[in-house]
Amino acid sequence: MKVNKTLAHFYHYAFPMQTALVTCNDDKGKTNIITLAWHTPISRTPPLYGISLSPKRYSYDCIQKTKEFVINFIPYALAPQAHYCGTHSGRNNDKAKNTHLTLTPSTKLKTPLIAEGYAHLECTLVKTIPIGDHDLIIGEVVAATADDHAFTNDLLNIEQQQPLYYIGDNKYTTLDPAARHEF
Ligand SMILES: Cc1cc2nc3c(=O)[nH]c(=O)nc-3n(C[C@H](O)[C@H](O)[C@H](O)COP(=O)(O)O)c2cc1C
Repeated sequence: MKVNKTLAHFYHYAFPMQTALVTCNDDKGKTNIITLAWHTPISRTPPLYGISLSPKRYSYDCIQKTKEFVINFIPYALAPQAHYCGTHSGRNNDKAKNTHLTLTPSTKLKTPLIAEGYAHLECTLVKTIPIGDHDLIIGEVVAATADDHAFTNDLLNIEQQQPLYYIGDNKYTTLDPAARHEF
């Protein structure tokens, strides 16, 4: 039997969502980190990646100013750091320092990577589309890097590399590598 549900949390039905840490610099070159669950590839050619970002976020101002950002895909073990970066603003926090995450140079941008992530997409800002209470920020992926053991034929080795997923309400999970169909 189907029951009617309120629309208050309609977006919860898309959970669990893979949760990434996005690095971005302010106009003085200081790096901020934001946790994002609403993000997705949106074009193969050109390679475009979309993030849904509230204009209230400090990271929004950073990305508008520097016109670049890095998507860092992270392991489940970094749930505490992701939760911290998703519940504190860089306006009054040095999140890299407070989480002890390691910032390391990217290949093409001024914005650094998070070394503890297993894969990284370096993006330059292409377009900001006002949508609703979040804007769609579209980045062109200008470089991709990953830990050498993380992927085989560009597919994630989920036995070794457990990605972080958010299930809402301050709860995080990961994949069960034994749950699989192969065709
Ligand atoms: C798991 C998780 C996922 C989040 N996903 C998003 C998101 O997709 N878009 C967004 O604008 N905020 C998202 N947030 C909220 C921001 O991460 C949060 O407001 C953060 O403190 C903003 O930091 P900033 O002010 O330094 O940019 C998420 C928070 C958590 C905990």
